[in-house]
Amino acid sequence: MSEPDQAALECRGVTKRFGALVAVDAVDFAVAKGETVGIGGPNGAGKTTFFDLISGLTPVSDGTIHYLGQPIVGTAPHKLCQRGLARTFQLNSGFDGLTVYENVLAAQSFGRRSAGGWVMTPRADRDAARAIIADIGLEDIADYMVAGVPTLARKKLMVATALVSEPEILLMDEPVGGLTPPEIEEFIALVLRLKGQGLTLIFIEHVMHFLMAVADRAVMMHQGQIIYDGTPKGLSADKTVTEVYLGSAGTGGAG
Ligand SMILES: Nc1ncnc2c1ncn2[C@@H]1O[C@H](COP(=O)(O)OP(=O)(O)OP(=O)(O)O)[C@@H](O)[C@H]1O
Ligand SMILES: [Mg+2]
Repeated sequence: MSEPDQAALECRGVTKRFGALVAVDAVDFAVAKGETVGIGGPNGAGKTTFFDLISGLTPVSDGTIHYLGQPIVGTAPHKLCQRGLARTFQLNSGFDGLTVYENVLAAQSFGRRSAGGWVMTPRADRDAARAIIADIGLEDIADYMVAGVPTLARKKLMVATALVSEPEILLMDEPVGGLTPPEIEEFIALVLRLKGQGLTLIFIEHVMHFLMAVADRAVMMHQGQIIYDGTPKGLSADKTVTEVYLGSAGTGGAG
């Protein structure tokens, strides 16, 4: 077990170069256990690339990343997931040809530390998968093929498949992108529940209303760098943020 005061995640000088493009530029970023951090910033700022570096999907060009005190650069994404570092994606992932329930079972079998097995899923694991599906509000469509389910359900399913891996940290890339205002409210309630359970949450989101409603701390990225790291409320008063993110004339919400 890790020390109680240890950071959940600590990035030092994290850099990603794609040829001449520096997508993530010497980023220092630490997240305490139980914290909820919302990351914003314009298109192409490097937010998703930063998540890809943390979750091991893209090799880091430079810098160090520690998860619960352990260095993780070079660790395969599935190993990180099994160690409790789970994520969702900006675009819908999931197996279209499986049902909602089967997707959760697959994630449980392959993504969890104490994987029970895919062919013979123990009763307790099946019950746990069903419980997560019910908790997240997918019970009614648990046996539907994922190819046919609407966007909100697909977004929730990504969270469910991450949760079933029993994460310490959950990274969510634009969890409410493309959702309607009532659906966003539903997601806010869901994320507040996860927060209440003590999960460490880091998410990327353009929808400022969502970020303001759930984040303890806001981070803004621009051209691969962090240009703001502070309270969500402080965002609108920050000159740099106003200029690069909201637009120089902007004082209202974005997204
Ligand atoms: N595999 C890649 N090869 C080359 N360039 C890439 C690659 N992935 C991302 N980039 C570039 O890196 C920059 C950052 O992209 P990224 O997807 O991280 O931005 P983002 O902040 O998530 O944007 P958005 O809000 O649109 O999702 C962009 O200029 C993008 O074109
Ligand atoms: Mg992105």
